[in-house]
Amino acid sequence: ARVAILISGRGSNMAALIEASRAPSCTYEVALVFANVPDAAGLETAAAAGIATAALDHRGHGGRAAFDAKVLDILRTHAIEYVALAGYMRLLSDPFTAAWEGRMLNIHPSLLPSFTGLDTHARAIAAGCRLAGCTVHFVTPDLDCGPIVAQAAVPVLDDDTPDTLSARILVEEHRLYPAALNALCGGRLRIDGQRVLGLDPR
Ligand code: GRF
Repeated sequence: ARVAILISGRGSNMAALIEASRAPSCTYEVALVFANVPDAAGLETAAAAGIATAALDHRGHGGRAAFDAKVLDILRTHAIEYVALAGYMRLLSDPFTAAWEGRMLNIHPSLLPSFTGLDTHARAIAAGCRLAGCTVHFVTPDLDCGPIVAQAAVPVLDDDTPDTLSARILVEEHRLYPAALNALCGGRLRIDGQRVLGLDPR
């Protein structure tokens, strides 16, 4: 299946998704990396890996819906079938999420439904959580609230800072996201209300 990865920054999850796509058994190919930040570091990483890239600054398009419509055009031009958000720091308009319903994933650095939004690691530490982690979920109009596909947990240590906790979680993100996308593009996932069935995490 042809996948587009949407990024805004360094793109370490993007790189992990690209790397995993090289396996012969992988069900997806990364057909495009798109960024709303033209100098996002991940664009160079993608180009160096031989992946097609596109960028469009989100500013100056007359609003969120108008910008999203242009992104939709770009994805259609590249015959994209599935979308993986990977550090894409834009809220999405309803028409955009509707266009990709059941075909768009995001990775979020917390154990959802705890800690939607930003600063998840600092908030998990401040709340005294002994476990933290990451979640791959389907994207719906409500930010970070779509059906959960896969999660991984790590311990929170007494001397953790947001940076050390983030680094521990990122290792799990890079493992979890390719597995989830592979399952989706292989037709293995079934959405049943807020539950997603079909991904065996063992
Ligand atoms: C990751 O922590 C991801 O969970 C969150 O944004 C960060 C992106 O990092 N959505 P990277 O660009 O993939 O390195």
